[in-house]
Amino acid sequence: MCGIVGYIGRADAASVLINGLRRLEYRGYDSAGMAVMDEGRMVVVKAPGKVAALNERARARWPDGSFNRAASGIAHTRWATHGPPTEANAHPHLDNSGGIALVHNGIIENYRALRSRLEGKGHVFHSDTDTEVLSHLIGDCHQGDLFQAVCDALHQVEGTYGIAVMAVAEPGRIIAARCGSPIVIGIGDGETIIASDAAAIIAHTRQVIYLNDRDVAVVTADAVNIRDLDNVPVDREVARLAFDSSAAEKGGFEHFMLKEIHEQPDALRNAIRGRLDFHLGTAVLSGMGTSPRDLAEINRVVLLGCGTSLHAGLVGEYAFEDLADVHAEVQQAAEFRYRNPILGPRDMVVAISQSGETADTLAAVRESGQKGAFVMGLCNVVGSTIARETGRGVFLHAGPEISVASTKAFTCQVAVLLMMALKLGRGRRLSRDEGMRLAREIESIPELVAATILQNDHIAEVAARYAHHEHAFFIGRGPLYPVALEGALKLKEISYLHAEGYHAAELKHGPIALLEQGTPVVAMANAVPGQDKTLGNIEECRARGARIIGVVTAGDSRVVGLVDDAIEVPACHPLVATVPSVVALQLLAYHIARHRGCEIDQPRNLAKSVTVE
Ligand code: M6R
Repeated sequence: MCGIVGYIGRADAASVLINGLRRLEYRGYDSAGMAVMDEGRMVVVKAPGKVAALNERARARWPDGSFNRAASGIAHTRWATHGPPTEANAHPHLDNSGGIALVHNGIIENYRALRSRLEGKGHVFHSDTDTEVLSHLIGDCHQGDLFQAVCDALHQVEGTYGIAVMAVAEPGRIIAARCGSPIVIGIGDGETIIASDAAAIIAHTRQVIYLNDRDVAVVTADAVNIRDLDNVPVDREVARLAFDSSAAEKGGFEHFMLKEIHEQPDALRNAIRGRLDFHLGTAVLSGMGTSPRDLAEINRVVLLGCGTSLHAGLVGEYAFEDLADVHAEVQQAAEFRYRNPILGPRDMVVAISQSGETADTLAAVRESGQKGAFVMGLCNVVGSTIARETGRGVFLHAGPEISVASTKAFTCQVAVLLMMALKLGRGRRLSRDEGMRLAREIESIPELVAATILQNDHIAEVAARYAHHEHAFFIGRGPLYPVALEGALKLKEISYLHAEGYHAAELKHGPIALLEQGTPVVAMANAVPGQDKTLGNIEECRARGARIIGVVTAGDSRVVGLVDDAIEVPACHPLVATVPSVVALQLLAYHIARHRGCEIDQPRNLAKSVTVE
């Protein structure tokens, strides 16, 4: 999604901004731009397309090599919402005078009304964006104090924002503010970096301040002064970033996605380490903040998420019901607050989000909190809004996930959900022995995944045979049904192939009409309860000419002759099998996309972190 970088300090701002934007490229965007203060003038450069195009334009703008002389600036990668990804719509946007520049993440919902009011006062707009209204509004409020102008303008807007603003009249400072869209401020040695994501800061400093909603910061090279929208000073603690910048490099892999698939054994070890108690046969998840009494009183688990995180929640639903005998349900986070969720203090709500910034999930967290539920986060990004607002939960420790297509976050989410279900289950239905056996199964997940990754070359060969198709179906049942959904999502988002995931039993209720000679059907045919029925569904597909790629349990002779291509995963507990099975599908999607020549790490139209509704 959109990215913000701001810089003020001793280094040349333009280069810092370009490098910062590069660090944010993984979030997905379709145009980029920056404004720098160059000898008392505001110079704006923008380009549709990639940061590389912006860099070229910037270098051409300063052909004499003076590219490197500005000491402050703001920059942006835009993921189009209001208006196409053109140069005019790219940020920064200027006010009517041209002396104030602004970059913005989020959406100004009442921009139409504000724009017509400002047009009535003679303001001339140059873009289709909601953002340009905010720059004009700040200009309209500006009477010599940029901080006050920003506060006055923000009092008038409805919607969400993370912004950085600077004015020719007030060199040496940048104003940053947030409401619903993250802003992090890095405190360096004689330099300060503003960003929407710590990835743009880590090369400069590890000391950061996360702004809260309604915070407005006056940022100079040596100081950060934070107040609220009503000009009341607020204290925000300085946190330390935990990851190092090498985690954001490809490390010899062709794509971040492939690197992150291969990182899964280690990521899973980190997610599991120290969290299993083999003596008591349970999981130790102190971040959940639950006493044994709390756990005993929980009568429902509600799992919230979007996209891949929603699919992890669906696996969790099976796990909580199977292992803990507790009613569990998954809710699509975007829908949650628009229905009437019936929640109370005995409902445990688990908000699942890799980024911890997904707007829909965050809104569902707030709704759940207002209704008195026991809310916790299951996030990867430490310091993210959902992690901070829930204040309790479990971190994945998967390391930064750069590829837009989520891989290691999903498998770690499932591993953590299995541990949560084990913990709840031990107080309810699982004996100590059963708990110990399950803890051993969970402990083995990294090795099961490593064994699956060893089949990478075989999976690449299978992928080559199917890469030319335009449609594919994924089927599964039980906890492997959400794995089928996730496999289809992975394939469609990175290969642009039309892929649908269905419960295996659902196929004959309609979708089977689409099967033709040669249509690929990816079947979760693992040797787990329900396999017989899935094998029957495979027969039904074969009878209509479909070609079957089976994800099968190693050494399972029952599937021989039923599938055209087999990808083996090791034998294990049915819930645990979801993890190596999805890894097989991640690799399948990756290699199909590669054969099709797709831009794997930054698929068209997609964003890593969806911070707008
Ligand atoms: O950061 P989150 O886990 O909240 O993100 C949710 C979805 O946007 C995300 O999983 C998305 O579906 C991925 N592109 C899937 O690969």
